[in-house]
Amino acid sequence: MIRRLHTDTNGWVINGTTYDGPAPDDLGGHEASGEDMATHALARGLAWRGGDGVLRFPQDDRDLWKHLRARGLDGSEASERLLELRDVRRICRGEVPLAPGVARAIPGPYQLPGLPYSFPEVPGLVVRHAVTEDLDKVAQATVELGDQPVSCPPDSPCRCTPPEAHAFLALAQEWDKPSHTQLVLEWNQNPLQWELMFHDQDEDMPVSSRTYHLTRERPHWFWREAWKPVADGLVALGFPTMSAIVRGDLDYYTQSLKYHYKATVRRRSRQKTTLDYDLATIPFAGWPARRGLKDDVGVQGVTIQEATEAELPDVIGWLQANRHSRTDISVKMLREWFFLDRSAVLVARVNDVIQSVRTVRERRPTVSSIAQLSTLKDDPDAALTSEAVRRWQVGCGYTKATRFTPEAIYDNPLMQATLAREGFRPLGRRNNGGGGITTIESEADL
Ligand SMILES: CC(C)(COP(=O)(O)OP(=O)(O)OC[C@H]1O[C@@H](n2cnc3c(N)ncnc32)[C@H](O)[C@@H]1OP(=O)(O)O)[C@@H](O)C(=O)NCCC(=O)NCCS
Ligand SMILES: [Zn+2]
Repeated sequence: MIRRLHTDTNGWVINGTTYDGPAPDDLGGHEASGEDMATHALARGLAWRGGDGVLRFPQDDRDLWKHLRARGLDGSEASERLLELRDVRRICRGEVPLAPGVARAIPGPYQLPGLPYSFPEVPGLVVRHAVTEDLDKVAQATVELGDQPVSCPPDSPCRCTPPEAHAFLALAQEWDKPSHTQLVLEWNQNPLQWELMFHDQDEDMPVSSRTYHLTRERPHWFWREAWKPVADGLVALGFPTMSAIVRGDLDYYTQSLKYHYKATVRRRSRQKTTLDYDLATIPFAGWPARRGLKDDVGVQGVTIQEATEAELPDVIGWLQANRHSRTDISVKMLREWFFLDRSAVLVARVNDVIQSVRTVRERRPTVSSIAQLSTLKDDPDAALTSEAVRRWQVGCGYTKATRFTPEAIYDNPLMQATLAREGFRPLGRRNNGGGGITTIESEADL
């Protein structure tokens, strides 16, 4: 028996021919084994034959999914087809050279006018429709947050290849489908939020069915302001109202949506809460001004000074020179809180020498959120610094301060001393959604 495998001029397998009897003189194609022939039946246009005669095929499920997606299947179709094609890897051992990633638009029920939108208030902050290219980054972020496992869970039959492709494939299946509109909020190309919407045919209105905060530290007013272009887009499409589905166990989140969006509860069950939004009456207020005082605050030799944007590199330099186990996180926080949340960066100095750095921002009009960025140390001036920071906050209009302390640091004696000195009472642990860093929330009257 004569078997020939045919490729196009780029090397992609397109066809196969088998001759049982006499074959024509000009056979064309390449000599092939019985196994090779199976690739033509199964993986037409996906297997590739190089000059060395080796048959190649995407070895990584994510690459295979991208190939399938690029050939016109939607995300969930591509996820299904992928399962049928895994066996081809037994035949084709080599890796296919992948063309550079191509962003595929995800067709959904809504194309919101005004998107992509770049916020003038925060350079680099953009809200736009999602594309398939977002999946890698979002999958990575969900793993870092602990919302998706690092690799296939032990009891799962999914057999993702490699096992670390698990989060990507889960998202590809769940998010990339034409029945849903997917939105991304990103800052300097890094996703902060993913939102999924679909059209409810009976009610003839949009439903926001899932929101994913890839950063948990943002105050809720930030998410509201960053959502305004979406609300404007829905109104422009002729929808005065929207509903949202929230996981039943997230009571905190439901309360927050009622407060920040004037949403009302339509229905509540153990599994989910359905909320209604009147898009015209959401109290959008714009980004608040960064709070600050005209003069530095001084308490017996300790001075509290607000760093300007131009001074941030010096403050970051000081943090890096005085490292602690979480310095990289502190630097990231400093930037995110300063630029995204309009936080003030407070630098405490004694005799002009930096002692400590905190960042303080608005959570609600009279409630601050405060984070310590510098290392904890036995500081003889700690009480004076605490008093200066308290005065600064009161001067800026706050009556209450809140803190989210990582569980791992909470019991540190120096942290406990700081909390006690500043009057913080623990409110409970916070870890919505499964993983990530568990923090202990506490509050203090100022
Ligand atoms: C459900 C979800 C969207 C809620 O998001 P969220 O409101 O940002 O959630 P969090 O409870 O983690 O944090 C929000 C509040 O705590 C504060 N906070 C939490 N951790 C903080 C930290 N480390 N530092 C400072 N503030 C912190 C925020 O400032 C915010 O305060 P505010 O709302 O009073 O202004 C989010 O938990 C998530 O993405 N979960 C996984 C996906 C999911 O289950 N989605 C279903 C939604 S229907
Ligand atoms: Zn898996």
